[in-house]
Amino acid sequence: MKILLIIGGGIAAYKASELIRQFRKAGHQVTPVLTAGGAHFVTPMTLAALAESPVYTSLWDLKDEREMGHIQLSRTADVVLVCPATADLLAKMAAGVADDLATTLLLATDKPVVVAPAMNVRMWLHPATQRNIAQLKADGITVIDPDDGAMACGEFGPGRLPDPPDVMAATLLRIGASSPSPALVNPVADALIGHHILVTAGPTHEPIDPVRVIANRSSGKQGFAIAAAAAQAGARVTLIAGPVSLPTPGGVARIDVETADQMAAAVEAALPADVAILVAAVADWKVTPSPVKLKKGDGPPALAFSPNPDILATLAASPDRPRLLIGFAAETNDVVANATDKRRRKGADWIIANDVSGDVMGGSHNQVHLITADGDDPWEVATKEAVAARLIAHIIQTIHAKTPLT
Ligand code: CTP
Repeated sequence: MKILLIIGGGIAAYKASELIRQFRKAGHQVTPVLTAGGAHFVTPMTLAALAESPVYTSLWDLKDEREMGHIQLSRTADVVLVCPATADLLAKMAAGVADDLATTLLLATDKPVVVAPAMNVRMWLHPATQRNIAQLKADGITVIDPDDGAMACGEFGPGRLPDPPDVMAATLLRIGASSPSPALVNPVADALIGHHILVTAGPTHEPIDPVRVIANRSSGKQGFAIAAAAAQAGARVTLIAGPVSLPTPGGVARIDVETADQMAAAVEAALPADVAILVAAVADWKVTPSPVKLKKGDGPPALAFSPNPDILATLAASPDRPRLLIGFAAETNDVVANATDKRRRKGADWIIANDVSGDVMGGSHNQVHLITADGDDPWEVATKEAVAARLIAHIIQTIHAKTPLT
């Protein structure tokens, strides 16, 4: 594959060298385009040596008839990857500004575009950046969500560039190229047009009093990635999200809820759906919250728990049961046995089981088992986006197949 790699001006630009090395190692061609900002962090010489390709830096380099014109340069690649994508570059892309070589190529290209944003956490979370991201997604651009973690500027939160192998996998996935793991499958574009897919994601919060809740460690990343992949395959997607701090994927209708009761009501209101994928980590128990803040001086509170509705089991027994009902099972032990039992007990068609004894919750990777009536299909460890793409590809195959569901 030919990758046109646009390198923006940020500290993460240093990772572009490693990214080029990895693409080359996997047999791909990389043509680097270095922005003026990027050139403060990495030199054209380094990039040219690693890519074994000329490095383009200025629109005016290309003016010579014997050189490659910018239109041609933007179209000879199979995919355009912007990495790192700065807030400034994203804003220009969202607005259609073309005032240098990189932005002109991005406007002129007719190829898929993938962006890997990296910036300070405040800049990433700023409504202006989030607005631009939503616009880019609506324009069909694939956005690789930044990772959480400690940043070069000393702050902590989302904004870090994911590791080069993850950027490479997401880029290749976008164009359906064979990726480092054979597990990664690109959903067929538009294959789910006309289908309504319902996804629940994130934790629920069960209030104890006006300031305290019972929560869990679910980040919502896997469910959001599934909603994004379903929308990219053309489905109408309703995403019912517990309390998470994640941007809404492009083309997805999101309903925010807090408690299990609210999630159950939102699911019921969103029916009918062709497929439901219940990824949320729903609290099994709730308490009747105190109307006033519990005081320490009153001693440890005696919380009286009552059961929450089981959304998956209720949906399985409902007259509106989706044609394909998929649950998740987060297990810390006997993963396959527990999940196999859960599939039967709850009446789901499939259970995606994962071992959450490590750092899956909140992390960027997942290793899952697909449990169906046919048994256990263990999938290779992959990014949550890759797991989502593979699941959506499997759903497409199943609902387009003439054979009964397994
Ligand atoms: N689920 C649900 N409603 C609930 C609890 C769970 O819809 N009140 C769904 C989850 O979204 C997930 C599946 O059921 O798709 C399995 O969730 P899990 O918490 O693993 O199931 P539990 O029945 O709570 O099993 P466990 O005894 O392991 O907690």
